[in-house]
Amino acid sequence: MSMTVLKCGGSEAIKVAEMCADVARLRAAGGQVVVVHGGASDISRLAGQLGVRCRRLVSPLGFTSRYTDAAMLDVLTLAMTGRAKPRLLLALTAAGVPAVGLTGLDAGLLRAARKKARRAVRDGRTTVVRGDHSGRIVAADPTVLRVLLNAGLTPVVSPPALGEHGAPLNVDADRVAAAVATALRADCLLMLTAAPGVLRDARDETSVLKQYELPDDGELGVAASDGMYRKLIAVYEALRGGVPQVRVADGRRSRPVYAALRGAGTAVVIGGAAPS
Ligand SMILES: Nc1ncnc2c1ncn2[C@@H]1O[C@H](COP(=O)(O)OP(=O)(O)OP(=O)(O)O)[C@@H](O)[C@H]1O
Ligand SMILES: [Mg+2]
Repeated sequence: MSMTVLKCGGSEAIKVAEMCADVARLRAAGGQVVVVHGGASDISRLAGQLGVRCRRLVSPLGFTSRYTDAAMLDVLTLAMTGRAKPRLLLALTAAGVPAVGLTGLDAGLLRAARKKARRAVRDGRTTVVRGDHSGRIVAADPTVLRVLLNAGLTPVVSPPALGEHGAPLNVDADRVAAAVATALRADCLLMLTAAPGVLRDARDETSVLKQYELPDDGELGVAASDGMYRKLIAVYEALRGGVPQVRVADGRRSRPVYAALRGAGTAVVIGGAAPS
């Protein structure tokens, strides 16, 4: 029985109903699916409604990421569990898929180590920023996922994860997908996003690569910024963790999952190994 981990990007351009219909088809064909999601647009909208300021940090490499203070951690948790996840659960239910929503806090699913201090560049100077409630995933226990899958249910997973001191931590959703796919020994990790795949040139949608070889030294050879840069790091973790097939593909098209499984988008491999 094949196991697919499907990461659904948070862009409103993703065809969620089409994706859920594909999940129903995979299940009907005997496959098992775990859905992982982020929620960047829901987080921004809810923060605006609640009057919580969104702060971003610029890393010394020039990439931006969210600064998660205590108020933002609450917003993030509320947006994931109160908006992004219910939307997916309703769409899966409408497609006939019995789905169950979880975060990394459920039954020890995802544990993270807090990033104690983060380096950020402000006004041209590198400073150390503290008070950030985000972390790096250090362990994934797939027991609860297996229980649900064995009962014929489709888990829908998102951040936060459980920190070492018993408090929630923000973690990157792509890395959640990588950790879950690794822990479940999934056959395939599929990252559906609002781009046709990995682009040689981020501004040119026709420059999609059929296969992208992640360099073994971690230096990325394509012009990947922000979201795609982070995604490729997560893909690297999944491949290193033993997931045999990882693809980045377009979630904005019809039949997005089947199109990707039939070769649309980009197959990512490490150092030129043939995709299995
Ligand atoms: N070389 C590249 N190839 C493809 N996309 C790129 C590249 N460089 C930058 N991008 C941008 O990265 C985006 C994907 O990352 P992003 O984090 O925004 O989405 P996501 O991970 O699918 O969703 P979410 O973060 O909400 O879970 C693309 O939509 C594109 O705009
Ligand atoms: Mg992203």
